[in-house]
Amino acid sequence: MSDIDILRPMRNNPLQFLSDELETLKQQGLYRPLRILESEQGAHATFDHKSVVNLSSNNYLGLTTHPKLREAALQAVRKYGTGSGSVRTIAGTMEMHMELERRLAAFKKVEAVVVFQSGFTANAGTVSAVLTKEDVVISDELNHASIIDGCRLSRAAIKVFPHKDADAARKIMKDLPAAQRKLLITDGVFSMDGDLGPLPALCDVAEEFGAIMMVDDAHASGVFGRQGRGTVDHFDCHGRVDIQVGTLSKAVGVLGGYVAGTKDFIEFLYHRARPFLFSTSHPPAVAAACLAAIDVLENEPHWMQQLWDNTKYFKAGLQRHGFNTGRGESPITPVIVGEAPMAAQMSDRLFQAGVFAQSIGFPTVPRGQARLRTIVTATHSRQDLDYALDRFGAVGKELGVIA
Ligand SMILES: Cc1ncc(COP(=O)(O)O)c(C=O)c1O
Repeated sequence: MSDIDILRPMRNNPLQFLSDELETLKQQGLYRPLRILESEQGAHATFDHKSVVNLSSNNYLGLTTHPKLREAALQAVRKYGTGSGSVRTIAGTMEMHMELERRLAAFKKVEAVVVFQSGFTANAGTVSAVLTKEDVVISDELNHASIIDGCRLSRAAIKVFPHKDADAARKIMKDLPAAQRKLLITDGVFSMDGDLGPLPALCDVAEEFGAIMMVDDAHASGVFGRQGRGTVDHFDCHGRVDIQVGTLSKAVGVLGGYVAGTKDFIEFLYHRARPFLFSTSHPPAVAAACLAAIDVLENEPHWMQQLWDNTKYFKAGLQRHGFNTGRGESPITPVIVGEAPMAAQMSDRLFQAGVFAQSIGFPTVPRGQARLRTIVTATHSRQDLDYALDRFGAVGKELGVIA
């Protein structure tokens, strides 16, 4: 008997149903062990003792290892230590947190910004603070889980429209009482398909019905718009989107989420957003590295240029092989293969061949649309991309995914 068994009381395991569910996942080919990263999160990385070309991170611009971010984080640790020690509303607001919010507001060209611990808490905390059970949210069917959770927490009625269908959103709006408060919400870039929310058309709908317009730009921050300002800038929808969410965890290379809007709205979130009120603020190193990342976005445009050059090159290569790359318009390029076990098998075969492209199956994507989700970064070399394309071609043929 192990030590763990001795500690466990002698009774039936009330969590047995979870073990049963895990067993079902295994039988359905939906169980995926975690890959363990043993190096920096780079274009090349070592996972599970294997050196691979890494096509699975959200480190779009390679900023996780940028010398300026590293140095800023190190200096912050030396000067301020490792933790902030409190939630923002008690003793955990450091000058650096405020500076980061001011810099982000100037960068996004809005009145004010509040930073959360993650993009997830930014979305969930904002939607649940703004809406009540009297209100209604009109949401794209493929919006991120953090939006869905925020909607559920708010207890507002949830009306889902088919993916990117602004006319369907309009029809839903028409049937709602004029006086009811409405929030129309979309991802800027959809995380599993890499396509863009139809912002101009959705802004039209929101304006027609007096709805609050909200965009989650997690995958657009640092990727779309001038200097990576996001899809609102990309589509020139400035002044038409009331609530913009961005993340600091992906292209920005660190951790966190932010909400951009009017000064009063942000002050409201300071008082009502539950992750802001009830969870400790970022360590100094995180805030300092995020500040350095804004400098990099503003002063080193070649990273974005390189990201987009690599994206076009890699996507074209996959398409030349005959892969189904879906409707991606961003550096996220799905390789759709069908059922989850096939996606898992292909991902594993590629991994053995030195390329890491994680498989994604149900429930993250619909059944029958399991895929390998690829993301190239600014720091991949042409040699890396050629190597990955070559292996994709070989494994795709071996498994009959392409002819
Ligand atoms: C569309 C979208 N929104 C929000 C998030 C959450 O961002 P974070 O990783 O910073 O919590 C993600 C990340 O997975 C995402 O893909």
